[in-house]
Amino acid sequence: MKETNILKIAAFAVYIIVSGLIGIDNATAQTVWLDELDLSAATQGYGTPRKNKTVDNKTFTIAGKTYERGFGTHSVSSLLIILGGNALSFSTKVGMDDEVAGHQSASEFVVIGDGKTLWSSGVMRIGDSARTCFVNLAGVKKLELVVTDGGNGNYYDHADWANAKFETKGTGTLKTYNPIASEPYILTPKEKAEPRINSAKIFGVRPGSSFQFLVAATGDRPMTFSAKGLPKGLKLDPQTGIITGSLTKAGTYEVTLGAKNAKGVAEKKLRIVCGDRIALTPPMGWNSWNCFAQEVSADKVKRAADAMVKSGLINHGWTYINIDDFWENNRDSKDPSLRGKFRDDAGYIIPNTRFGDMKSLADYVHNLGLKIGLYSSPGPWTCGGCVGSFGCEKQDAESYAKWGFDYLKYDWCSYGNVINGLPDNDPYKVSSLSYNGGNQLATAMKPFKIMGDYLRQQPRDIVYSLCQYGMSDVWKWGDSVNGNSWRTTNDITDTWASVKGIVLDQDKSAAYSKPGNWNDPDMLVVGHVGWGNTHPSKLKPDEQYLHISLWSLFASPLLIGCDMEKIDDFTLNLLTNDEVIEVNQDPLGKSATCLQTIREMRIYVKELENKSYAVGFCNFGLEIADLSFKDFDKLGFNGKFTVRDLWRQKDISTIDTQKAQLGIKVPAHGVVLYKFTPRK
Ligand code: GAL
Repeated sequence: MKETNILKIAAFAVYIIVSGLIGIDNATAQTVWLDELDLSAATQGYGTPRKNKTVDNKTFTIAGKTYERGFGTHSVSSLLIILGGNALSFSTKVGMDDEVAGHQSASEFVVIGDGKTLWSSGVMRIGDSARTCFVNLAGVKKLELVVTDGGNGNYYDHADWANAKFETKGTGTLKTYNPIASEPYILTPKEKAEPRINSAKIFGVRPGSSFQFLVAATGDRPMTFSAKGLPKGLKLDPQTGIITGSLTKAGTYEVTLGAKNAKGVAEKKLRIVCGDRIALTPPMGWNSWNCFAQEVSADKVKRAADAMVKSGLINHGWTYINIDDFWENNRDSKDPSLRGKFRDDAGYIIPNTRFGDMKSLADYVHNLGLKIGLYSSPGPWTCGGCVGSFGCEKQDAESYAKWGFDYLKYDWCSYGNVINGLPDNDPYKVSSLSYNGGNQLATAMKPFKIMGDYLRQQPRDIVYSLCQYGMSDVWKWGDSVNGNSWRTTNDITDTWASVKGIVLDQDKSAAYSKPGNWNDPDMLVVGHVGWGNTHPSKLKPDEQYLHISLWSLFASPLLIGCDMEKIDDFTLNLLTNDEVIEVNQDPLGKSATCLQTIREMRIYVKELENKSYAVGFCNFGLEIADLSFKDFDKLGFNGKFTVRDLWRQKDISTIDTQKAQLGIKVPAHGVVLYKFTPRK
C-alpha cells in the first residue's frame, strides 16, 4: 500500500515537471474538435462548408476508410482560426472523398500558421490513402486551413479534414473568423446629369471590315451626338451615337466626338486606326459562363444584352455580349435541347435548338449598339462536351463571320487528346490528359494558328481570345497566331484563394501586354455568379474592389461574369467607375507589375499615357495596413504629382516625391488605387 502511494506521488511529480516543460496548463488542458467551431466562416469553391459530413452530405470516406468527425469542403477552400496562443497542436487525416470517384480530382491540403506553411499534404488524388497531419502550434496565433485545386482547376474536389482536432491549454477559446467582414460600401460618385464621354480613346479596324463604334456617354437623356473629322466611309447616327460604315484606306484618323444634352456639352478625341491591328484597348463586356454555364440560351443572352443597356453599363464602354460553351450540340447531355446534328454535310456547324438562328441573335445585339461573341475549341469537343472545331475550322470561321460575330473565345479543351491519339469520348479524361501537348511549343501553337489564319481571311474583324490556361508561355507567341488576348491561368472562382493565386501569377506575362495583345487572368467574379446556379459573389467587398482594381491595372479584358439581371448597386458601383475603367483602357496598353512589397502589401504600378501612373496599394494581409510611404524611387517615378483617389474620384494631395511621404491606409484584402499625374 505504502509502495503504491510512493509510486503514485513519484508519477505525479514527473507529470508536473514534464507538463511544466511542454507548457500544458494542467487544470484545463483539453481537446477541441475542429467541428465544434463555426465552420460557416470558411470560403470554398462550391457548396456550403459541412460539419462531420462531406460536400455531398455523406459520411467521410477516404480510400475506403470512414471517419465520423471533421470538416468537409470543396476546393478552393480557406478556413481561418484564431488560436490566441491557446493551442498546442493540431492533428487531422486528410484526403479526397471517395464520393467523387471516377473524376479527375486533385487537391493539396495546406496548414498555414501566422502566414507560414507548417504542413502540406502534397497533391492528393481520389483513391490516395488519407495522409496524417500533426503540427505543433506553440506560439502560433492564427491558423489557416487551405485546400488548393492541386493546380488542375477542375470542379470535382471534395476534400475532407477528418478527425481534425486541437490540443489546447488554458481557458481561452479557439474561434474561426471571417477575415474581412466589411459591409458593401459604395465609393464611386453618382453619375452627373451633364454629359461625359466614356468610350475608349483609340479604336482599331481593318480596311474593308464593317465598322461599329458606340460613343458611350453618361448624362441625362435625351442626348445627341456628333463626330468632327469622321473619315469617308463612316457615319454617325446622332440619336444613338453609333458610328457605322467601313474604311477602305489604312491610316490614322483623329475625330472629335461630342455629346450634348439639356445640361451641357462634352467632347472627347477618338483616334481611329485603320490597319492590321484590332482590340487596341482591352475588350469590355459580359460572358455567359460564370453565371449560366451549361444553362445558357439565346433568350438569356438577349436578356443579358438588354440588361447591359438598361443598367446603364453600356454608357461606360461595356460592349461585348459573349456566349460561352453550350450554344453547340452536346455529346453527353440528356437534355433534348442540346441534342441534335452537330454539322451539316458540308461541315458547317448547326447551333443547338436553344439558339437556332445565330444571325438574328447577332442582329438583335448589334441593334442595341453592342457586339457579340461566341466560343469553340480546337479539339473535337469543347470542355463541356459540345462539338468543337477540329477539322472544320474553315467552315466555323466562315459561319461566325456570316452570322456577324465579333469575338471568338477558342478553348484548348480536348485538343491534347488529338495530339496524344487518346479516345475523345471520355469527358473526364479531357481535363487532365489534354494538357499533354500544350506544353510543347509547336503543338501548343498549331491549333490556334489554324483558326487565327481562317479568322483573318474573313471580311469581318473578329477579336480572337485564346484560352489554354497559360500553357507554353502563350503570352510570348499569342500575337504571332493573331491572338488578341490569352488566358494566363486556370479558371477563376469567387474565392479569395482563387483571385489571390491568379494575381500572384501575373507578373510573368506583364511585359507582353500591348494594344491588340492582352493578358487575360479570366473573367470577373463580382455580382451573382455560380455556373448555372447563382449566388452573390463570395468575395468580400474589399476583395471585390481589389479584384476590379487589379484587372484594370493589368489591362485585362474586363468580362463581367454575373447574372446581368441581378446587378445590385454595389456591383454597379464596381463596374461604372469611369476613372478606374480609364486605367484599364489606357491607350499605352501597358500592364502593371508589382514593383515593391512591404510585408503583405504589394504595390502595383501601371504606366499611363502622358507620363502618369496608376498605383494600386494592394493589401494581401489579414490586417489593415497603415503606413507612411516614401520609396517612390522603387516605383520608377519621381517629381511633382497630383495624387488622385480613383475610386472616390477625388484629388487627395499634391506631392513632391523627393521630399514628402504619403500616408496610406489599406483594408485587409483591400486596395487603395491612386493616379499620379505630373504637375507642370
Ligand atoms: C473552360 C474555360 C472556361 C469555360 C469552360 C466551358 O476550359 O476555361 O472559361 O469556357 O471551359 O466549358
